[in-house]
Amino acid sequence: MPEVVLIGAGNVGTHLGRRLHDCGIAVRQVFSRRISKAERLARQIEAQAIDQWHELYTEAALYILAVSDDAIAEVGRNIQAQLPAEAFVVHTSGATPSTALQGFRRYGVFYLLQTFSREKAVDFSAIPVCVSANQPKDELILEKLGQKISDRVFIINDHERAVLHIAAVFANNFVNHCFQISHQILEREQLPFELLQPLIQETARKITAQTPADMQTGPAVRGDVATIRRHLDYLEATNSPYRELYRQLSKSIRPSLKIED
Ligand SMILES: NC(=O)c1ccc[n+]([C@@H]2O[C@H](COP(=O)([O-])OP(=O)(O)OC[C@H]3O[C@@H](n4cnc5c(N)ncnc54)[C@H](OP(=O)(O)O)[C@@H]3O)[C@@H](O)[C@H]2O)c1
Repeated sequence: MPEVVLIGAGNVGTHLGRRLHDCGIAVRQVFSRRISKAERLARQIEAQAIDQWHELYTEAALYILAVSDDAIAEVGRNIQAQLPAEAFVVHTSGATPSTALQGFRRYGVFYLLQTFSREKAVDFSAIPVCVSANQPKDELILEKLGQKISDRVFIINDHERAVLHIAAVFANNFVNHCFQISHQILEREQLPFELLQPLIQETARKITAQTPADMQTGPAVRGDVATIRRHLDYLEATNSPYRELYRQLSKSIRPSLKIED
């Protein structure tokens, strides 16, 4: 695979850049609006750090935009002015249609279905890489690139990716927010969050073998209304902003619950 240019040195840019380099794919340049950020990543992956669009290398086989969703179209316009008409440009967003880059003749998406925080290592070989491109031969290029960095590569269209992203928001973002709520509740009583770690790990492990519906436990699925009311009373007494969320989630688990007196 010839050279790649990486635009964005945030969470995804950093992990993807390191993985490409580790798998023998040359990253020619790293762009960030802050040169120090570009340099930090570029040093690790033997790339050139740049912070000006006019410095872009114009002969890369692929330009990967690992930038915020809202910046994709703007960055696309900025680089289009610099690149030849046949440049191949992809973004890494789950939520953004590929057509955000339709100003290019060759465009697509290289979406890594995982949660990335810059300094937290991930097992890349297990990450589903979801690719699509507006031309079949480019889809093949992305598929091959994906196979170099992961064992799990899928061709996923815009609609499918958008739906995957909604599901991922529930499975990761909202679940993580619930961890944060648990953390706050325990902190108030000076109890350590680490007491919940085995429970959290087991919750994730269990659903690799069974459906989430089969694995649901707790007062809502059992219909233990007295317990639910005690929990709601505690949340009210402590002025918790999460009382209503608790009630709604319980009803979502078991709609027939009669919680209110
Ligand atoms: N994090 C995840 O778990 C995850 C997972 C899958 C996909 N994604 C997708 O990957 C993309 C990047 O996410 P991220 O988590 O890596 O975000 P991030 O850590 O916030 O990094 C975003 C990058 O976008 C750049 N940027 C923002 N506005 C820009 C602009 N107007 N012009 C040029 N650069 C701009 C920032 O550059 P500066 O350094 O110059 O500010 C930064 O490098 C997003 O589309 C996201 O949806 C994220």
